[in-house]
Amino acid sequence: MDPFDSNISDRANLPRNMIENSMFEEEPDVVDLAKDSTAFPTFPALDPDEVAYEPRSSRLLVRGLGENDMDEDEEDCESSARLLGMSFMNRSSANRPSSSPYARQPPPRSCSRPSARTTVVCVLFLVIVASMTMVLYFLPGCTFTKTGCRKANQTTPLVPVNPASSSGEPFPWNGYRLPQSVHPLSYEVTLNPNLEDMTFTGYTVINMSVQHNTKRIVLHSAKLNITGATFKLGEGDSKAVTVLEYLPRQQIAVQFSEDLKAGQSCVLTLEYSANLSHTYDGFYNSSYTDKDGNKRVLAATQFEPLYARKAFPCFDEPAFKATFLIKISRKTDFMTLSNMPLAKSTPLANGLMQDEFEKTSVNMSTYLVAFIVANFTSMTKNVSNTLVSVYSVPEKKEHTDYALETCSKLLEFYNDFFEINYPLKKLDLVAIPDFLAGAMENWGLITFRETSLLVGQNSSPLEKQVVASVVAHELAHQWFGNLVTMSWWNDLWLNEGFATYMQYMSLQAVMPKLDIGNLFLAVRFRALDKDSLNSSHAVSTEVNKPEQVEEMFDSVSYEKGASILLMLNASLPGEQQFRKGIIEYLKQFSGSNTVTNNLWNSLTQVEVSAQHQNVSEMMSSWTSQKGFPLVTVSRKGDEVTLTQEHFLLTSDDATHTSSLWNIPVTYVTDNCSLAPECRQVFNLKTKSGTLKLAESVKWLKLNYRNTGFYIVHYGNEGWATLIEALNSNLSVFTHEDRASLIHNIFALSRLGRVSLPSPQPVALRIYILHQFRSLMDNQTWTEEESVSKQELRAALLGTACSLGEENCLNQAKDLFKQYLQSNESTKIPGDLQQVVFTVAGQSDEDWENLLDLYVHATYDAEKRSMLRGLASTQDARRIAWILKAGLQGNIIQTQELPLVISTVCNGFAGYLFVWDFIQENWDRLIEKFPLGSFAIQSIVKSVTSQFSTQAHLDQARVSKPEVLLYLGGQGVLSETGPVRCIFAQGG
Ligand code: BES
Ligand code: ZN
Repeated sequence: MDPFDSNISDRANLPRNMIENSMFEEEPDVVDLAKDSTAFPTFPALDPDEVAYEPRSSRLLVRGLGENDMDEDEEDCESSARLLGMSFMNRSSANRPSSSPYARQPPPRSCSRPSARTTVVCVLFLVIVASMTMVLYFLPGCTFTKTGCRKANQTTPLVPVNPASSSGEPFPWNGYRLPQSVHPLSYEVTLNPNLEDMTFTGYTVINMSVQHNTKRIVLHSAKLNITGATFKLGEGDSKAVTVLEYLPRQQIAVQFSEDLKAGQSCVLTLEYSANLSHTYDGFYNSSYTDKDGNKRVLAATQFEPLYARKAFPCFDEPAFKATFLIKISRKTDFMTLSNMPLAKSTPLANGLMQDEFEKTSVNMSTYLVAFIVANFTSMTKNVSNTLVSVYSVPEKKEHTDYALETCSKLLEFYNDFFEINYPLKKLDLVAIPDFLAGAMENWGLITFRETSLLVGQNSSPLEKQVVASVVAHELAHQWFGNLVTMSWWNDLWLNEGFATYMQYMSLQAVMPKLDIGNLFLAVRFRALDKDSLNSSHAVSTEVNKPEQVEEMFDSVSYEKGASILLMLNASLPGEQQFRKGIIEYLKQFSGSNTVTNNLWNSLTQVEVSAQHQNVSEMMSSWTSQKGFPLVTVSRKGDEVTLTQEHFLLTSDDATHTSSLWNIPVTYVTDNCSLAPECRQVFNLKTKSGTLKLAESVKWLKLNYRNTGFYIVHYGNEGWATLIEALNSNLSVFTHEDRASLIHNIFALSRLGRVSLPSPQPVALRIYILHQFRSLMDNQTWTEEESVSKQELRAALLGTACSLGEENCLNQAKDLFKQYLQSNESTKIPGDLQQVVFTVAGQSDEDWENLLDLYVHATYDAEKRSMLRGLASTQDARRIAWILKAGLQGNIIQTQELPLVISTVCNGFAGYLFVWDFIQENWDRLIEKFPLGSFAIQSIVKSVTSQFSTQAHLDQARVSKPEVLLYLGGQGVLSETGPVRCIFAQGG
């Protein structure tokens, strides 16, 4: 276990940080689905959309099946696996209506009162659909076997051009993306949730404008039972219409006999009923136990990325922006919240109240719509004309102060920094007891996990750092993401990379004491480690499937995205160019959607210095290809040659790429190495370049303060001069530079470019203790003020106890005993809680006590520490129990299952239990957490990160191929041999 790494993950409690390896395999694996459309009957009259959106290529999810050593037959198998990967997975997920177009379709319903001719046509149609479905269904069966896998048939199309809707009639659209012919303008959504039987009814009115002549309107709807629909064209009358549904793509359509004409406006009204979701997406139900032990229910939403369609029919793509007016009915003892302030409450005949919210004053994407029905209380503050409120369950009201204060400071900062004021009149921050993500930036109604928003009286600065970070991130989204939104999920990084960058930048400015710079530095190292795997992907990556959309929420979009923005900012000549550029970008695209190049163009256009930099030219090399460069330095006299190559951790040299980056290489020398003015820049755009340096210069250090996204190899001599400089004066470099030297040398050793002494596991313990014992012994167990000292102490003591150091174990046990005996009134310093609870969880006598504490604890941050302690037990029965409890969701909330699994996997043999558990419960897991989601990514990574032998790979292949599809993508099994597996873990 790497205590530093896990410390960061846990501390930040951010799913982004739980993902250890990228899920993507970037092979040129393009499938032109519509290439052979002639094999199927076609629809009449293509409108411009059909030209624009078909054909689409597909990046599928079969990865890491040893692509480097396949023979021809295997290659064919592998490519059909790629083609059919998603259907393969969906086939196994019985409870999840497939979102893949390749998956089995539900049996078409019979035709009503059929004539003989119709019957024949119907039967013929059914036979065709059934045979195609069977072909698609059975093809993946040969995916992983060498024998029996047919040669890929170049002319076999994979998707029928005319899919059948649930009623059996042809569905008038065959694309994953919606047609562009009709745009929504405004929605009026009326919802009537029933928190007793966990259902709701809805009534949605959509005003639209016709962009191109078309005979159909296609939009999204998922798991909504549509009970009525009317349509009104222009000033005409409302008429009942039939709604066709194509389940695999979660689309519905209304077809017309006459063209709707470009420029016309129209209104579609849909009535429906549905169940409140029992997973964490859509309009979902949730519950918690209040202080008197009563069960309280509530309903909340999580729509990003693809789940607004589960609450109301809509054009559920980020570029279809519109206004929203929401009405929700509730019992009188409940309250409701939505994006906008409450406009009015009206009593209904059935004794309920109907709350109506103001129509949104901005155009917004569907994934940002939100509403909540609950029983929360709040604290409020007026900040520059915005009413900021923090909501929580009533018993946690006093934990909301910190978030309110922090949000207020940050809101002022962003208003000022972006030179655009937050546009809504109110901003609610709500802590939801049952919430899967860390937080969600819904416009005006940001939702959080309790640990990401609430801070107890005795909480440590580290817990505050988490809350401040999450608030800063979600608040940044109100501009980056909400005001200006990526056009499609392939550019998710424009949202998430930017919000991540701004989160560190704003906190450094507003709350310097939080020491957030170190956290960002660690994030950059982690981003490099993940991006060095062959399974990584480009920052902007094509996505065509729901699972691929989910997978975009990963380290590349967040951490690499933020890292390359820092690199750009640090390399621009003018101090303010970056800020001016993004202000320009926000102003120009306010209320609309963008692609990556729009950002680069805005940054290029602002001219603040004579040295004009073509940002677009430089940055596209960082966003359009995966990975990053290794820069090797060689010096001869006054000439320094810099050479770049792809830093790629792979078992096979043959996979080395010819990628080149446009690198703003920064450097300092022994003449001047600390102050920002010392920094010099050399743009390396080609394979190698030369710079001149006076012969008297003793050493040179590249990547000043590690603001660049690359790794440097100085060669034996170069390293020797740097080590010598450090030996004579540690402070000759900034701390970021020292950290980057350490990071780079370890990375180079993983790549096999330098050899470091590698002690055997037994000797490793002695080595660590030898190096760190005196530091460990010097740590105190009482309150500590400084954040960085807390981090150091938690890491040192966590390591000491895990290595069985008597001193540490005794101190931890004593503290736990005092805590128990004093009825929890003796405080355990926040940063030491994890060490203490882990020692308790690993002791036979204290595990039950800890479980008892866990069950009764209310403060979420402490509860999570206890849970990690419980899950670090080495007792097989307890491991089995805790996994089961996490899945059941009664004693341990299901939202915590990824945390339980990652902790169990860190234990000696825990991953073997987890491996069995995952296989046994795969279908239930993907019912709870969407395929591709960070929760599934995290679960799969946790278990596979311990796999290191061919035997594991073989066993995985035989036992659960569906999981294997994911394992490959983790970059773990795609590397052969134990050594590479260690690489893949980034350990
Ligand atoms: N937009 C995301 C929430 C989200 C994550 C939606 C995954 C759909 C899938 C939000 O802004 C976010 O990034 N939340 C982070 C916390 C943040 C501080 C890094 C999260 O939930 O991990
Ligand atoms: Zn975000």
